[in-house]
Amino acid sequence: MKEGTYIRSFTAKDGREVVLRAPKWSDLDDMLFFINSLVDEGAEITAIDKVNRDDEIDWVASLLSRLERDKMVSVVADVDGRFIGHVEVNPKSGRSSHVGVLGIAILDGFREVGIGTEMMKEAESQAVRLGLEIMTLDVYATNERARHVYGKVGYRELGCLPKGAVKNGEYIDVVLMVKEIA
Ligand SMILES: CC(C)(COP(=O)(O)OP(=O)(O)OC[C@H]1O[C@@H](n2cnc3c(N)ncnc32)[C@H](O)[C@@H]1OP(=O)(O)O)[C@@H](O)C(=O)NCCC(=O)NCCS
Repeated sequence: MKEGTYIRSFTAKDGREVVLRAPKWSDLDDMLFFINSLVDEGAEITAIDKVNRDDEIDWVASLLSRLERDKMVSVVADVDGRFIGHVEVNPKSGRSSHVGVLGIAILDGFREVGIGTEMMKEAESQAVRLGLEIMTLDVYATNERARHVYGKVGYRELGCLPKGAVKNGEYIDVVLMVKEIA
């Protein structure tokens, strides 16, 4: 998919218009703000270290390269021209290349108005387009909102890695969720 490709639009529960599209180079500074905001708030994601602009340039370059070659799914949620959320699906390799690993996050202030649910559905459509058959993701057991959203769109919990993550000095179980999409 080409950078910036328009996918579709919808109205969020709070009335805001949301555009789903592919990422583009000009998202760079919004993306940098986005990841560092998630780190600052202690969001329940794997990343714990803030990112500098040089690292973000490398990350966006790699993202756009893989996107252009249809080697991954990357969908941006855009409100008023601003990057406010991202979902990506990265295929595993070799004998597991039909399995995609999903990651999603939305900027604080744009959550709980239905955007995440729509992004999950779009990620699945794009994953089917790429020929993926199984979607998988890890979620912290404490992240009840995310688990609810994933369950709502058809993921089931297979089990967990007890104490698979640490946050603020406390262990958290990491839950494995899966959905067959083929
Ligand atoms: C998780 C995330 C992607 C979900 O997206 P979102 O746009 O907030 O989700 P939606 O608005 O589509 O749906 C939220 C749902 O969770 C429900 N919910 C909210 N808090 C909840 C809680 N504590 N327990 C259970 N359900 C909860 C809402 O009622 C809503 O359910 P409904 O659609 O059935 O009414 C988003 O909140 C986010 O980015 N969070 C921070 C980063 C993160 O946790 N990423 C996931 C890492 S695995």
